Amino acid sequence: MTPKKLRLGVLASGGGTNLQSIIDNCQQQTIDAEIAVVICNNPDAGALARAEKAGRPHLCINHRDFKQREDFDRAVVAALQEAGVELVVLAGFMRIISAAFLEAFPQRIINIHPSLLPAFPGLHVQKKALEYGARFSGCTVHFVDGGVDTGPIIIQAVVPVLDGDTEESLSARILQQEHMIYSHAIQLFAEGRVQMNGRRVQIKGAQDNQSALINPPL
Ligand code: GAR
Repeated sequence: MTPKKLRLGVLASGGGTNLQSIIDNCQQQTIDAEIAVVICNNPDAGALARAEKAGRPHLCINHRDFKQREDFDRAVVAALQEAGVELVVLAGFMRIISAAFLEAFPQRIINIHPSLLPAFPGLHVQKKALEYGARFSGCTVHFVDGGVDTGPIIIQAVVPVLDGDTEESLSARILQQEHMIYSHAIQLFAEGRVQMNGRRVQIKGAQDNQSALINPPL
């Protein structure tokens, strides 16, 4: 008997490269998950075309069709529940999640953010890291809570900021890591290894990473 796969609801607003890497990993069975539905708030989102091409159920729920954020969220929650979603995966979803949405999927909504949180929450964060002069940046997969990019951290990847970097080159270096750690985080859920302990997330059976990163190197 094939083991039951974790049913994902992926929410996206843009090009959908994170969605694509999740689609690929599901297809290649490198993660024990399946995409139950892809929902976009933007009819032009490239993510919709990627879902279509992969033959995964997808729909656009345009936030502009709703007067109140809560009404939009209710429609999204209904579509996720209808699809039997167990884990909600925000992949470049540029909307704030309301309390009613959080209550519908307690500890079951995760997000990826292109900075080393808690540094640089919000928008245009690769540019902000560059302008700040940070020596490292990276990406973070975290639980979604009521704040903006504030929820408990599940996994992070660190990348160096190089002298010649532009916003584009740094974003591309970070995005490469996003594609790796997001699917890995999903697999940790599929294996039931993610445990929340207050603000700290414990990953059952994970090895400690003892190595320090120094940039420029010693
Ligand atoms: C990704 O870099 C993701 O981390 C970011 O949007 C991009 C979406 O790219 N998300 C946020 O900034 C959320 N605060 P994609 O559509 O190619 O996956």
